Amino acid sequence: MRNWVLITGCSTGIGRALVPLCREAGWGVVATARRPETLSDLPAGEDLRILSLDVTDPVNIAAAATACEGLPLKALINNAGYGQVGPLELLRAEELRAQFETNVIGLHQMTNAFLPLLRREPGARILQVASMLGRLSIPLAGPYNASKHAVVALAETLRLEVGEEVAVVLVEPGAIQTAFRETLTKAWGDLPERARGTRYETILARYLAVRRHQGERFAMDAERCARKILKALVAKRPPRRVTIGRDAFWVGKVKALLPAAWWERILRRAYGLR
Ligand SMILES: NC(=O)c1ccc[n+]([C@@H]2O[C@H](COP(=O)([O-])OP(=O)(O)OC[C@H]3O[C@@H](n4cnc5c(N)ncnc54)[C@H](OP(=O)(O)O)[C@@H]3O)[C@@H](O)[C@H]2O)c1
Repeated sequence: MRNWVLITGCSTGIGRALVPLCREAGWGVVATARRPETLSDLPAGEDLRILSLDVTDPVNIAAAATACEGLPLKALINNAGYGQVGPLELLRAEELRAQFETNVIGLHQMTNAFLPLLRREPGARILQVASMLGRLSIPLAGPYNASKHAVVALAETLRLEVGEEVAVVLVEPGAIQTAFRETLTKAWGDLPERARGTRYETILARYLAVRRHQGERFAMDAERCARKILKALVAKRPPRRVTIGRDAFWVGKVKALLPAAWWERILRRAYGLR
């Protein structure tokens, strides 16, 4: 009997890349998305279930857990998320709240809804997709930084509490080529108008250019990232952390080595804040 994994946020990006890879590795996949029609081109098979799932909707989450009752669910990959950016002094409370609703509360509710199913399977695991921005903060991405730091804290706490029954793996990618940057600018809403006439007007334009530049030049492709996640999914002894990408690896090391004042100066300069 095959093992099954449920993955959130499969419409694009890392989640989408994971679906065929897990299937190729012999796993059954419960592929979920807010808009299940985005998954209609996935080849049908006995190893695929498609569910509509918005991680901010508790009723939806409960229905997904009920739908998985009869499956030997061995893993949950909490991948769904988006990036809310903007200078903190221009950020509205509802923007911060919405960022946490998806990236943190959604992930937490998914975890709690599926833990009882996972506990039934020996060797079960939960993979929480955080980010290198769960270990360090960059300017103009305050809500996202905060949400991913929260994911790291929740995963580390959960591991202490249930890790002997269900392994908890933190996935910490650097820049990956996905729809993430496009969604980021959509989540800006009227931020450009709010920034008009403030010191952030040019800084935000520069920020976008920096992110694009990074995206084009340094980002890893989503399939390669998904392969590294798959390795943790199938590992006999799941790792505690999966750091993905040279940027994720080195930026953390550099930050740890540099005096804080140097680190801050470098970041301010890189983002045009000086
Ligand atoms: N790309 C990067 O550079 C990078 C780096 C570090 C960490 N990450 C993390 O990796 C994860 C996947 O992101 P990605 O890069 O693959 O970006 P992506 O291509 O934008 O994919 C994000 C996925 O999350 C889904 N999603 C967003 N809100 C949701 C909700 N409320 N309920 C259910 N699904 C929701 C999106 O669905 P819709 O199509 O419906 O919006 C989409 O399927 C995220 O947690 C992200 O923070 C990404």
